[in-house]
Amino acid sequence: MTLEEKISLVVGVGMLDRKDNPKGRVSGAAGETVEIERLKIPAASFADGPAGLRIHHDREGDTGKYHTTAFPVETMLASSWNRTMLRKVGEAMGREVREYGVDFLLAPAVNIHRNPLCGRNFEYYSEDPLLTAEMAASFIEGVQSQGVGACIKHFVANEQETNRMTVDTVVSERALREIYLRPFEIAIRKAKPWTLMSSYNKLYGSYTSQSRWLLMEILREEWGFEGFVMTDWFAGDDAAKQIEAGNDLIMPGKSFQNSPQRKSECEEIRLAIESGDLDLDTLDERVKAILRILVRTPAFSGYEYSNSPDLDVNAAISYEAGCEGVVLLKNESALPLSAGAPFAVFGTGQIETVRGGTGSGETHPAYTVSLLEGMEERGLAVDKEVAEFYRRKIEELRSADYSISYGMWNEEIRPRLPEDLFDEAALDELSNRNEAALVVISRISGEGRDRRLEKGDYYLTEDESKLIAGVSKAFRKRGKRVIGILNIGSPIEVESWAGLFDGILLLWQPGQEAGRILADVICGSVNPSGKLPTTFPRTYEDVPSRSFPGEPADNPSVVSYDEGIYVGYRYYETFRVKPVFEFGFGLSYTDFEYSDTEIILEGEEVIISLIIKNTGSTAGKEVFQVYVKAPKGRIDKPRLELRGFGKTDLLQPGEEEKLTVRLSKEELASFDGYRWIVEQGEYEFLIGASSRDVRSTGKVRL
Ligand code: BGC
Repeated sequence: MTLEEKISLVVGVGMLDRKDNPKGRVSGAAGETVEIERLKIPAASFADGPAGLRIHHDREGDTGKYHTTAFPVETMLASSWNRTMLRKVGEAMGREVREYGVDFLLAPAVNIHRNPLCGRNFEYYSEDPLLTAEMAASFIEGVQSQGVGACIKHFVANEQETNRMTVDTVVSERALREIYLRPFEIAIRKAKPWTLMSSYNKLYGSYTSQSRWLLMEILREEWGFEGFVMTDWFAGDDAAKQIEAGNDLIMPGKSFQNSPQRKSECEEIRLAIESGDLDLDTLDERVKAILRILVRTPAFSGYEYSNSPDLDVNAAISYEAGCEGVVLLKNESALPLSAGAPFAVFGTGQIETVRGGTGSGETHPAYTVSLLEGMEERGLAVDKEVAEFYRRKIEELRSADYSISYGMWNEEIRPRLPEDLFDEAALDELSNRNEAALVVISRISGEGRDRRLEKGDYYLTEDESKLIAGVSKAFRKRGKRVIGILNIGSPIEVESWAGLFDGILLLWQPGQEAGRILADVICGSVNPSGKLPTTFPRTYEDVPSRSFPGEPADNPSVVSYDEGIYVGYRYYETFRVKPVFEFGFGLSYTDFEYSDTEIILEGEEVIISLIIKNTGSTAGKEVFQVYVKAPKGRIDKPRLELRGFGKTDLLQPGEEEKLTVRLSKEELASFDGYRWIVEQGEYEFLIGASSRDVRSTGKVRL
């Protein structure tokens, strides 16, 4: 390769279809590498994202449709705690990637739910590194089984949107290793993603895409990563430093189109080579890293993609994944609804259902089944007049003062609709003729902005509060049940109003099959089996990441992860702060009994086995969790940490299953600031249905 060819390969071709940049092979893809005709190196195509392939469904001068499937958001996928399901979702997305001519899916995202207000939490799995890693590894295996690449992102310490392109994250090395790097480490070792995306932020003063310590020492030398690293889009400020540090590919290329102070990245690299600041051997290493992967892509083998993946099959997988991720948070004889009993549905989210968040994690499916449509399609006895009222009212509002506009991602911006639409007399009448009420609360967030600690976001609006209070009073007066449906991507405040409901169902942002999932869960044909991958704190004041989103608060340049390793339940459990719904929590329509727990040390492995029996009268699945309390030694330890988990098959009433988790000693290690250590002493194993609902314990001395 000539020097020019090498330099051109390590820089993307620019934002596709903008200015005089190439249009790209796939309309709506996020980027491409350069084609080098002389060497028969084709352009490779990259597209988002975690909830489904994001490409344009309409193309100029083309009557064809290029829809993709909208899957549940990552947080909901993680609520399934089901590795097989994640693999299946990965396979489905991988098929769409391949059949639409894309080579790399820009997913999964494995940043940590450090704070409930991070605007992209919905794109991330969990507050726990192990659950995150296991979900990501299965997903990556699924995607790559289809002959296309996955991209694990954003490496690393990128847990907020506020000033994400400049903020400097300061975190102890222990917390970095145990909490934030851990998901990358485990998923890379297990599933070998073809690519990794460095993040926007700085870490200890240097951009992650310009950190040799991260990209060479940790990623390659310690973990043996064999793929290539790309920047996040327009990240960092020096292309030569990125190449030097081990960031192989600079995406999307042509930063100067946005930042006039920059030269072209190719120019920056060329000058650095000429001046001797960048070694030619280093550039060669980057080129090789990219080529070693490119030769595996469909583009390289000239794969003739069909542009017609089987969207029906994938819709069924999206539905199935959604059903496994619904979390039943409260149930005082409220659900499932009695067959045929009429019920009224309140809240505009029943029609304007939020299937996922905005930004690069947005999707373009052929349809979204709204909650109302799903319930009607399944023939549930929804109050038709109320439904009709909402249809008309929303249409009227949207065509007048509440019209939809479009944001910087071309995403819809929908002014918040009024929710308090029924007076006391109307509610009284509705509670007379219906047996139950559902109230839908919806939230949306997305890339580029964090959520707000305000009414309408973390808190209910005045309107929503009035609606809930009114419905609750009217229906409960007649002994009828009131059920809250949370159509949200990340926790909101629930403590102050949860008491007004007899049942609360967390539907998350469930993708295109939303309404079908809800209908089948509330009528009982699907028994919810999801458990929380993230804590719902009692009040925001309890959240340990108090420094979020950094300092100075109005325009942060630094964010210190002062809570260290005490993120999520590690904090709540260690410091005895009771959350409203704890990590790992989720109810079922049936009951499970845990028995015959055995914990034995066999050579270098701890083997935990137990029996879970369905003792209720409905078929169901149960997620069990293995927490470990490590001995106090040289360093402090959380009161418990998730070290393993599993999910039963669908157990019929009376049926039982034996489950086993094997843990190597290394999986019990802590980072002492310098190295991973397994402290000697007694390890307590707590087998739980959640982080607070421990069913059996046992000890092993290591
Ligand atoms: C996001 C990435 C995404 C990329 C390409 C960036 O703004 O942070 O997650 O993959 O854009 O769309």
